[in-house]
Amino acid sequence: MVKRNIEIFDTTLRDGEQSPGATLTIDEKLKIAHQLAKLNIDTMEAGFPIASSDDFEAVKLIAQNVEGPYICGLCRTVEADIQRAWDAVKHSNKPCIHTFIATSDLHLQYKLKKTREEALEMAKKGVRLAKSFTDRVEFSAEDASRTDKEYLCEVIQAVIDEGAVVVNIPDTVGYSQTEEFGDLIDYIKENVENIDDAIISVHCHNDMGLAVANSLEAVRRGAGQVEGTINGLGERAGNAALEEVIMNFKTRPDYFDCDTGINTTEIYPTSKMVAEHTGISVQRNKAIVGENAFAHEAGIHQHGMLSNPLCYEIMKPEDVGKKTQLVFGKHSGRHAVENGLKKLDYEFNQEQLNKITQKIKDLADKQKTVLEDDIIAIADYELNKSSKKPKVVLEELAVMTGNKITPTAIVKVNVEGKQKISTAYGIGTVDAATNAIRNILDSNIKLKEYNLKAITGGTNALADVSLTLTDSLEKEYKARAIDEDIVMASVKAVINGMNKMERKK
Ligand code: KIV
Ligand code: ZN
Repeated sequence: MVKRNIEIFDTTLRDGEQSPGATLTIDEKLKIAHQLAKLNIDTMEAGFPIASSDDFEAVKLIAQNVEGPYICGLCRTVEADIQRAWDAVKHSNKPCIHTFIATSDLHLQYKLKKTREEALEMAKKGVRLAKSFTDRVEFSAEDASRTDKEYLCEVIQAVIDEGAVVVNIPDTVGYSQTEEFGDLIDYIKENVENIDDAIISVHCHNDMGLAVANSLEAVRRGAGQVEGTINGLGERAGNAALEEVIMNFKTRPDYFDCDTGINTTEIYPTSKMVAEHTGISVQRNKAIVGENAFAHEAGIHQHGMLSNPLCYEIMKPEDVGKKTQLVFGKHSGRHAVENGLKKLDYEFNQEQLNKITQKIKDLADKQKTVLEDDIIAIADYELNKSSKKPKVVLEELAVMTGNKITPTAIVKVNVEGKQKISTAYGIGTVDAATNAIRNILDSNIKLKEYNLKAITGGTNALADVSLTLTDSLEKEYKARAIDEDIVMASVKAVINGMNKMERKK
């Protein structure tokens, strides 16, 4: 059976950027736009050009530089807005104008102070003008889910007559229940005579946690486009998380007779990029892209995973650009440890395995998660591989910083029994300390990624640093360390990474 193609409309750079706390520079928007094109979305809403000159410039720059998707600008149904949106998107070879007006009585009375008749006329006029610029015109009836159904259908029919090729039904305040939203789509299909001349789009907000469910139900009832954002960013509780929508279609073809053109392996890289630039990180247990989404800690789960990943994974992490992680914690069992040690090329007997497993569990009780480095240290100790003692040991660290002093660090390390000392400056104390260590060990080593998290809140939180170092051949080494002090945690992580490099050598 031929599957229906569902178009994916990404509004990360518009509704997503409206998330409280998320602002992106023009360069960041362009970088994300290129990544969204790699993901192969169908339409990219790049901004709201009349909102500010920065928004206008960003949409224009994206229209000039990004190929693949329709590049869309949002505008109200007023002449100046539509003209401004066109001036920005016209540089694309696939321009799109998205014009909207609220249609619920509540919005008409309190926000727009217009009658239904006046709003209907504005909608028609706006679409007519947009259509004089480009063929790809989308119309949205803001607050559609709280709009009188008959009036909503009247507006939709009129804008399709004016040439709208996409009609969007937003659940602007995330009010709709799933079945109710599906029924609304059925109602529109039954009561708008020319509905087959346009694609029905849905745009759901997540105020009650139903944005993805409502979007999926709408697709089952005939919607042909889903709007949303990466990581579910957006006004208030956000928009439908596109990665979740897309993976539902891919994982349950038996339930949804549809497909998207999305290159799903780009999902995780896109999510990471968006989180990094907006500064809004993804919760650990977030579906599809959260750090824990494909991590298994419980011993029974790990055993099942090792026998057959289908036991506990309904999608392949590789399909979204991630990897399975067997996390060692207090719930992990011998099977997982055995597997981890074999991967690290250790040879051991059952008694040694039992001891190592017990030590890992003891450490997990104290430290929450146990990483590869910890396992190597425990296994080396238990298996008496003294040759694998760390080459570099931190002996002393002093840092100086303030508002009128260049951050400076003095580091003393012991490298295979020899003490070495170095002083260096940096942009901050972490940078200064890293530079001092590089002076001693190898100036070709580079800090590629640096991530700092606080474990538990408050000013006395533990600092958890994970980072990636690269050597002169650009090979990557990941390391992590935890300490009460941010600089100490960072330096320890750098030294762990350097020891890892040595071990691999
Ligand atoms: O939520 C909403 O109604 C919107 C429209 C502008 C589509 O973002
Ligand atoms: Zn919205």
